Amino acid sequence: MSKAEHVMDQVLTDEAATVAFGAQLRQAICSRLGESAIVYLHGDLGAGKTTLVRGMLRSLGHLGAVKSPTYTLLEPYQTDDLDVFHFDLYRLKSPEELEFLGFDEIFEGPGLKCLEWPEQGHGWLPAADVEVTLSLHRDESLPASTANDPSRIQRHVSVRFA
Ligand SMILES: Nc1ncnc2c1ncn2[C@@H]1O[C@H](COP(=O)(O)OP(=O)(O)O)[C@@H](O)[C@H]1O
Ligand SMILES: [Mg+2]
Repeated sequence: MSKAEHVMDQVLTDEAATVAFGAQLRQAICSRLGESAIVYLHGDLGAGKTTLVRGMLRSLGHLGAVKSPTYTLLEPYQTDDLDVFHFDLYRLKSPEELEFLGFDEIFEGPGLKCLEWPEQGHGWLPAADVEVTLSLHRDESLPASTANDPSRIQRHVSVRFA
């Protein structure tokens, strides 16, 4: 098996940068993988995973809302170019539940499948074609009072194609 290729690595200065990066990433995924891809989105709560998916959807012409699938586990979208399945497995009780919910059929079919909290489906989910890691960094050189200011928290993204 070939070594994972590190293709993208960037600081995301604000929300608009996360949306723009989502669009860029979606184009990279489609040009490398075509109409079917499994994308794992790693990162803590608030790191920007849902915002990144919004950027992917915007670049496909989806202008409507992009709701977090925290409670529904899945929000599906149909765009002119391809189907997008946005999962958030944070509240999944066990990996077997994925089969019970019929999600196995989605993974077998075409479309862009983006998964927040893929760790929750460990052992059951297909392997990732693309792994995205979003992280939050406090500037440790600042005094604690300033370092916890949300506007001082820096976000970072790195992407690996399998
Ligand atoms: N690069 C960024 N800089 C500052 N805020 C951001 C950035 N990206 C996203 N946000 C904001 O962070 C918050 C959490 O984002 P969200 O995408 O819901 O995170 P997650 O899905 O990882 O929990 C939202 O209010 C979003 O607007
Ligand atoms: Mg989210």
